[in-house]
Amino acid sequence: MFTDYSYRNIGMPIDPFLKDWGRMKITNDPTDSLKFKVPSLRNVMLSFPYGHDGRFFSVMSVMEHYRKNMVPDSRTDSLLRNRLPLSNFEIGQLTAFLHTLTDSSFLKNPNFAAPGKGISTTAPVDIHN
Ligand code: HEM
Repeated sequence: MFTDYSYRNIGMPIDPFLKDWGRMKITNDPTDSLKFKVPSLRNVMLSFPYGHDGRFFSVMSVMEHYRKNMVPDSRTDSLLRNRLPLSNFEIGQLTAFLHTLTDSSFLKNPNFAAPGKGISTTAPVDIHN
């Protein structure tokens, strides 16, 4: 999953329309401002858009967030205070790694298919009885 299920501030600017302050909305604690749950990365290469509000349309734009676009302040997670100084090569390597988190047996498991597309778990109903 590559998440610790914690909430963290990754230096995302607030969306002025959505005004989603993240975890702070639940706890009313200003230190939780703009903290969002660290998401699972399973099947991440197939699960765009990204971020709590879907603001990133590609993994590449998430990488650009960490490398360049994030706006660190005193509430930003200490791991990201200096952004992530990733080279293009490292971004390529990370992207290749993220591809390894694609779980095709999970994706093809009929138990998780859209309603009507998987295997029925209820016995057929005999309408003539
Ligand atoms: C090289 C390192 C990292 C990579 C490749 C990476 C990758 C990603 C990706 C692809 C997403 C979007 C997932 C989705 O929306 O489904 C994401 C979101 C997120 N990551 Fe990272 N991440 C890295 C480092 C970190 C670090 C160091 C932290 C925390 C200190 C962190 C915390 C988060 C959080 C909280 C989100 C969710 C943001 C939101 O919902 O708006 N990540 N990350």
